[in-house]
Amino acid sequence: MTASRSATPPSLAQSLHFWARNASNESALLRTSLSVGLFDALPVEGEGAPMTVQALAAKVGASVRGVRSLTELLVCLGLVHQDDARGLTLARPVAAFLRDSAFRERLQEAAQWWGPMGRLEEAVKTGERLSPGGIWDVLGLYRQLFLETVPAPSPEAEDFFDRFARSAARTWLLVTAGRLGLLEQLATGPKDEAALQAATGASERGLRTVLEVLGHLGITRTEGATSSFTEEARQVLDGKALPYLLRSFSVSAQYWEALERLEETVRHERFILDLKDPEVSQRFYADNSNQITAVFASHFQLSRRAAATIAQVRPLKGASVLDIGTGSGVWGVAFARTEPTAHITYFDQEVVLEQARRNVEQLKALGQARFWPGNLFTQDFGEAAYDFIILPQVLNVLRPESLPDMFRRVSRALKPDGILVIAEYVLNERRDGPLDHLYFGFRRFLTNEGDLLSHSEYAALLSDVGLTSTVCLPLPTQELLLAARPGVALPSQLAPPPRAAA
Ligand SMILES: C[S@@+](CC[C@H](N)C(=O)[O-])C[C@H]1O[C@@H](n2cnc3c(N)ncnc32)[C@H](O)[C@@H]1O
Repeated sequence: MTASRSATPPSLAQSLHFWARNASNESALLRTSLSVGLFDALPVEGEGAPMTVQALAAKVGASVRGVRSLTELLVCLGLVHQDDARGLTLARPVAAFLRDSAFRERLQEAAQWWGPMGRLEEAVKTGERLSPGGIWDVLGLYRQLFLETVPAPSPEAEDFFDRFARSAARTWLLVTAGRLGLLEQLATGPKDEAALQAATGASERGLRTVLEVLGHLGITRTEGATSSFTEEARQVLDGKALPYLLRSFSVSAQYWEALERLEETVRHERFILDLKDPEVSQRFYADNSNQITAVFASHFQLSRRAAATIAQVRPLKGASVLDIGTGSGVWGVAFARTEPTAHITYFDQEVVLEQARRNVEQLKALGQARFWPGNLFTQDFGEAAYDFIILPQVLNVLRPESLPDMFRRVSRALKPDGILVIAEYVLNERRDGPLDHLYFGFRRFLTNEGDLLSHSEYAALLSDVGLTSTVCLPLPTQELLLAARPGVALPSQLAPPPRAAA
């Protein structure tokens, strides 16, 4: 039924990547689609006239943007069908298992556990049911979800239940194992139960449950009282991989409450983790700048390739470059390293620029650098001042209504023959993929940030500010969109990947 789970089971590395980034999004998506009433409101494929997202939003009493952030993913997962006129219907197998009242009760029961599951660490430490009332036996829930078998009405229903209930549970188990220091303990070699209990503060019942479920997931094995990583986990979590993975899980944990309360956001655009609140944004992005720095090396490959691609049609000698929302500085510094006479201005919130400065210094590009703290929503970037302006992973931070003004300020700041360099997750023209992009966009909606757009949607907005010429080139994992005024040469293909050394 679904597009994203293939016949060959994913490797542990692929699974861990998914659990760290998107598994909790997946559960929240399905749980909220059910509670908002989307599945019941949609006509079943072949039975009724397809419905637009606007009509669907009106029918369930929710915001159009909110409903769209769910339906685009549901289409990509194959649970909802979209015709060429963007009409939506519910896939027949989904309609069938949702009509099964026992299965539906199971889903509704599972949906109540999001909050209590977030207190798994407490349950592992005490080994008890959670207060108040002691009704939430979170350890019991984990046993039931992973170690007991309850038949589902069909394989499609089983797959749906797995995404609905277990995906988020896997994420939170790994968040908790990370917080307890359990994975770090196991990374140093086999450990017996008493040593693990002493090091993590876990109760006997708590530790045993966690280890059994980690065992079920292929991460640990236990013989007698001794537990260790499986051979596959040992290979996957070697060296820097474990700290990197733990940071990804802790980033995911920041979204937990917002995902729990997603229905409020979809219905009323009430944002629980509101990154438009300057204080929340500073805290969130200052925390995340460590994570952004952790992925520096892989993003540096992309940004250097982008700089080399542009240099094919336009020498960078003496160029002035503005990097807006620079984060780690990884995009601007690639231009500096490609051309030692280029001058780079790194623009971001003050707290974030400290991290950028360290990275630029490390790459010996401080001599070409200027750091400009400010607010990208309001800053006047000047007039005809830059040869290149880079917007790296930053447009998705802006709410859709802010984009025209942003493009107006940026277009004004570009020299007449300047090039706007956008690095973004660009959706396909049907807006139903790629899946990873849609999940990324889902989180941007969740945090009161932006929408992801297709190439033609960007081209229309850019053309309104005179940047009528655009190309979109697929980098690995994201897209490079270049825009300029008429007559300015733009590259038509990517330069080869740079050699590994900077
Ligand atoms: C998703 S990160 C992208 C970071 C970097 N460009 C990269 O590609 O790795 C978005 C950046 O926008 C910055 N940002 C968000 N709101 C901002 C604001 N109001 N003013 C200035 N920068 C802001 C954040 O601090 C963050 O560094």
